Amino acid sequence: MAASGSAVGLGNIWGFPTNAASNGGAAFLFTYLILAFALAYPALMAELIIGRYARANAVTALRTISSGNKTRLLALLVGFIGIVTVSFILSFYGIVSGWMIAFFFDPVARLLGASQLSAWLTNDAVMRNSLFVVLFMLLTIYIISAGVKEGIEKWASRLMPSLIVILLLLIVYVLTLPGAMDGLRAYLIPDFSLIADPSLLVDAMGQAFFSLSLGVGTMLIYGSYISSNENLPTIGSLVALLDVGIAVMAGMLILPAMYVALASGVEIYDDSGGLIAGPGLIVSVLPSLFSTMGAIGVFVAIAFFALMTIASLTSSISMLEVPVAYAVEHHELERHRAAMLIGSAITAISLIIVFNFDPLFDLVVTVTTEVSQPLLGFAFCIFAAWIWQRSEILEEIKKGCPEVESGIFWKIWPVYVKFICPVAILVVYFQ
Ligand code: PHE
Repeated sequence: MAASGSAVGLGNIWGFPTNAASNGGAAFLFTYLILAFALAYPALMAELIIGRYARANAVTALRTISSGNKTRLLALLVGFIGIVTVSFILSFYGIVSGWMIAFFFDPVARLLGASQLSAWLTNDAVMRNSLFVVLFMLLTIYIISAGVKEGIEKWASRLMPSLIVILLLLIVYVLTLPGAMDGLRAYLIPDFSLIADPSLLVDAMGQAFFSLSLGVGTMLIYGSYISSNENLPTIGSLVALLDVGIAVMAGMLILPAMYVALASGVEIYDDSGGLIAGPGLIVSVLPSLFSTMGAIGVFVAIAFFALMTIASLTSSISMLEVPVAYAVEHHELERHRAAMLIGSAITAISLIIVFNFDPLFDLVVTVTTEVSQPLLGFAFCIFAAWIWQRSEILEEIKKGCPEVESGIFWKIWPVYVKFICPVAILVVYFQ
């Protein structure tokens, strides 16, 4: 549940549908499904297996499976870049999640007749953004300082079922509204002329890696908390299926909702004629839609932004856990202190971005998710398949899954992480 919580986040409910909207609907869905299972799932397994074997954070774990001096140095570098990358991811993720909390309070304010407050909450201003990123980071720090069992696991298993219920209710409701079927058609009928477009491939791969929280040591550290009796290939496929399933379901909410908005007179196309996909979609198109729904719109808005906040929180805790686990395990810092110190440092970075939004926000997003994450994913595959001893990997997977040697997973996975994943990542990357 915790690993699915990490995977399911803004990437699924925001990133996936908007990527699909701007990349030919089902053509993107189709490519994404293939890449998620053919490339991202094997990479996810690499992280889970290394983590459980080493029972440690990424830096220590990668060093454990390396033998020579050079590879140990490389391990240190990759583990460290992962920690830095995930901290910067959290710094922008926290800002966006802060918007989600502000938009969650907006309908509540309107319900109470506080129209000035409502205007303040929905107006994109430095003050509002700073306050809400701090609030969101405090929630994240609170859960992480409570520990793995009492914090991460407890909250993931409370929040994830609520997320699924809210998502399903919203889909059922939106699909009954006029215009929804046009959205469903745009989403599910592929425009195959776009499928060969290299930007679609790059977007779909980035989406798959970001969505499965890969390359930055998150899944590795969660792997290190999994019991040796558990069947890792099965756990990995459940996480991947749930992640992809929720992304696909979110598409069934967001795209129909956009066309419902169009039917009620809300602008859903940008200047170049494409569907609005960036922040405008979530913070302007959807709220305008909710406000055309009358009284029920207030509750739909509350449900939708609660969904977004929950999804963000189960992901943000998994991000903060990466540097915190490293500080606790490697520098013997006490967990509360580590969570507080590192959490505050990341919040400070978020505030710097808030105050310098235009030059910094897109830059941080691009460098972390489009440059660093795929390259780190590549490095993890190299460590799992080329540096680590094959017999040890098999031994590790066999724990909790003794029949693996004769099964299909063992026949395919090693070849995949050894050759196909690294080459494919590089090819898509250089595209
Ligand atoms: N997977 C999360 C999402 O889809 C984002 C994430 C990235 C979480 C990296 C942890 C590490 O929103």
